[in-house]
Amino acid sequence: MLNVERVREDFPQLKAGIIYFDNAASSLTPKTVIDKMLEYYVEYRSNIERGVYSLSQRASEEYEDARRTLAKFIGAKNPDEIVFVKNTTEGINIVAHGLTFNRGDKIVTTLLEHHSNLLPWMRCKQRYGVRVEMVKPSGEGLLDPAEFEKAVDDKTKLVAVTHVSNVLGTVTPVREIAQIAHEHGALLLVDGAQAAPHLEVDVRRLDCDFYALSGHKMCGPTGSGVLYIKEEVSEALEPLYVGGGTVEYVDLEGFRLLRGPERFEAGTPAIGEVIGLKAAAQYLISLGRRNIEAHERELSRMVYEGLSSLKGVEVYGPSPEFKLGVTSFNLAGLNPHDLASILDLKAGIAVRSGMHCAQPLVRQVLGKPEGTVRLSLYVYNTAEEVEIFLSTMRELVREIA
Ligand code: ALA
Repeated sequence: MLNVERVREDFPQLKAGIIYFDNAASSLTPKTVIDKMLEYYVEYRSNIERGVYSLSQRASEEYEDARRTLAKFIGAKNPDEIVFVKNTTEGINIVAHGLTFNRGDKIVTTLLEHHSNLLPWMRCKQRYGVRVEMVKPSGEGLLDPAEFEKAVDDKTKLVAVTHVSNVLGTVTPVREIAQIAHEHGALLLVDGAQAAPHLEVDVRRLDCDFYALSGHKMCGPTGSGVLYIKEEVSEALEPLYVGGGTVEYVDLEGFRLLRGPERFEAGTPAIGEVIGLKAAAQYLISLGRRNIEAHERELSRMVYEGLSSLKGVEVYGPSPEFKLGVTSFNLAGLNPHDLASILDLKAGIAVRSGMHCAQPLVRQVLGKPEGTVRLSLYVYNTAEEVEIFLSTMRELVREIA
């Protein structure tokens, strides 16, 4: 079980007395991550893979150790399957631009997606004439593998799904979808931005070909993320950028790229951030991902039940057993941005409001053109914080009744 009071001591940002419920947007950062980045900047600040001197050797070793740690973090078979990127969005775009699409190919994605797992595919449609089919979730945001059976065919080159919805917290049946995709010879990309911080992710069990995650949502620094590329499919992907650090041999006739993950990491990478990301992954491993998930599920149930009992409050998505710690809701008579501002002013509660970078889902599936308020939990949130939130909501409901 998670000792939340102990965990809270690790996060200096909490000393300001805020109630931080916007973890799906970005998490707070524990001191161990800040210290690790500081260690790089103070003790061995230098470039990697380019120097024989000891400073650079140390930085390179820390960077490559981050690759091993992140491989372990998501269950990759081989550290060479880990490419460091800026964030999930960059990871997905690398795949969108790196695969070869031809007119008539098909990409299957869903109406549950964040724009970052939607716009790249819409652009493939514009650029390469591929067909993009969108699988619709249920009104509660649940995806049914049977819908993928219908959508995926032998012309399908790629299936792209989120692992956990950033608006509703619903969990996608990735393994079942992987099986359907692979039966038709399609590749599977998973947007793991909202899953990797909260669940024990095992890319081999999921059997996906690509898995993208963001460091800043999992206690790590901004500007750090991972694109997992399954070893067997890495040759199918052309790097988006080429340049320094990607190449084995160059002469005036041409060049030969390296075979490892370096060929996707052109230029000097975000060294300090990647080293910080390693500390974040180690931190989450030390807390235990199952403990994290159990803690969030418990608080999520409190949020769901508390909100559902309030008059005038509409809660979107399924009941708690089908989702993680993200809850979207509205209070009748208040615009979502106004409600979010009032929660901040009244009780220092930080939540996100609006469309959550998922306009098709919020507008078409939930039918909320003005958006929703979204509360998203993490390791340091407590039952007391949820109680403060619920009593603030109760007070508001009374005031506007
Ligand atoms: N993707 C982030 C969110 O859902 C920014 O809020």
